[in-house]
Amino acid sequence: MPVLVVVGAQWGDEGKGKVTDLLCEQADLVVRYQGGNNAGHTVENLRGKFALHLVPSGIFNPNIISIIGNGVVIDPTVLRAEIDDLESRNVNTRGLKIAGKAHLIMPWHIMLDHVQEARLGVGKIGTTGRGIGPCYADKAARQGVRIQDIIDPVGFRQKVMATMEAKAEVMAKAYDQDVSSLKEECERYIEAAESLRPYIDDTALLIWNSLREDKRVLLEGAQGTMLDLDHGTYPYVTSSNPVAGYASVGSGIGPIEFSEVWGITKAYTTRVGEGPFPTELSDDTGVCLREVGNEFGTTTGRPRRCGWLDLVALRYAVRINGFTGLCITKLDVLDTLDTIKVCTQYKYKGELLDELPPAQAIFTEVEPVYEELPGWKSDITGTRSVQDLPQEAIDYLNFIVRHVRVPISLISVGPKREEHIKVPHPDYSQRASGGHAGRQQ
Ligand code: IMP
Repeated sequence: MPVLVVVGAQWGDEGKGKVTDLLCEQADLVVRYQGGNNAGHTVENLRGKFALHLVPSGIFNPNIISIIGNGVVIDPTVLRAEIDDLESRNVNTRGLKIAGKAHLIMPWHIMLDHVQEARLGVGKIGTTGRGIGPCYADKAARQGVRIQDIIDPVGFRQKVMATMEAKAEVMAKAYDQDVSSLKEECERYIEAAESLRPYIDDTALLIWNSLREDKRVLLEGAQGTMLDLDHGTYPYVTSSNPVAGYASVGSGIGPIEFSEVWGITKAYTTRVGEGPFPTELSDDTGVCLREVGNEFGTTTGRPRRCGWLDLVALRYAVRINGFTGLCITKLDVLDTLDTIKVCTQYKYKGELLDELPPAQAIFTEVEPVYEELPGWKSDITGTRSVQDLPQEAIDYLNFIVRHVRVPISLISVGPKREEHIKVPHPDYSQRASGGHAGRQQ
């Protein structure tokens, strides 16, 4: 049975939202497996424009079950507001299911996120300030609050208030914070969490049963490989694992179920927040990429740092995730450039590196080694087949494939839904499960 995992191959914001939205047509279940409302994407359809941070984009199709998996951290007030917005615009949210094991972001997490960033000063991570890191830290420290806890409303309230008081004491004493608003904030969070009760389910069982009925499952990661807590540019990372391996943990299904893993990469690179970025451009080309590509954060509105495509980092993402296909997004953003540079190696103290260096201290100092390719200098947004692309664009894509050795499955050539090219490559939903050991029935 086909299960497709969709993973960001760079530092997030690769255009996963659009790809997932397109792939939803071939799915019965869409599962988000990590992250929280640090992620965000805009979906534009006949019902209007929607900014989604937590609800999977499968929600617009009434035949799809949209799951927020156990690996996600949920700010209940944000999820409540998202559901209310969808319902008020006639999008039925009955297909939404939330894993009972998912952890809740609480007001103290958000406060701590801001406090810790402020204390780091120039060494700050540049987080989205949504409480993501402190919530995952509490989860690992076994001090978290899970959404299933609302099944016992009295116990839930006691647990929230007791945890809040303990956290407030630390924040007031150690960090000199004004914690007077926390109690009232917690009331709002408790109310929002309780309102989500109808959506809670045993989602891992639901997925398991659906797979036994030969349903098709799309597992959707947030952020990207280079922001992965274990495999990214630590400590300038998010606090969860966007990589494909975590799709199993964050949804509750065994990895042997996966039939395909697709990596999403822009035709260039962007990064939000602090941390090393070897191909970053601080010249006019960087400004051009930001403006043409509208590179401003969906969640925080921050301008994104822009640079050339980094094939060393992309090869790394291929290896860490085991990509079987690539989706290249925003190819049209390069339409006006005379020449396009691509980083194929790094240089460190005169030595050429084909792989990401094993130590972060070295990664911050590597210089990119570029190859330069001619631009195509024409508008490709109306193109719907690879053959109709300008030869220079085809050469650019072939160059990428030659270097990363993964076939391209999809190319996005514009922001609109229809502005994409499906590359003849076996449709994941039709794939037989023969690529891996058979599943026990
Ligand atoms: P946090 O996830 O809010 O803790 O932020 C940690 C780092 O991940 C920061 O550099 C953020 O800018 C970055 N980050 C988090 N979520 C996203 C995303 O969805 N897209 C791009 N960067 C992100």
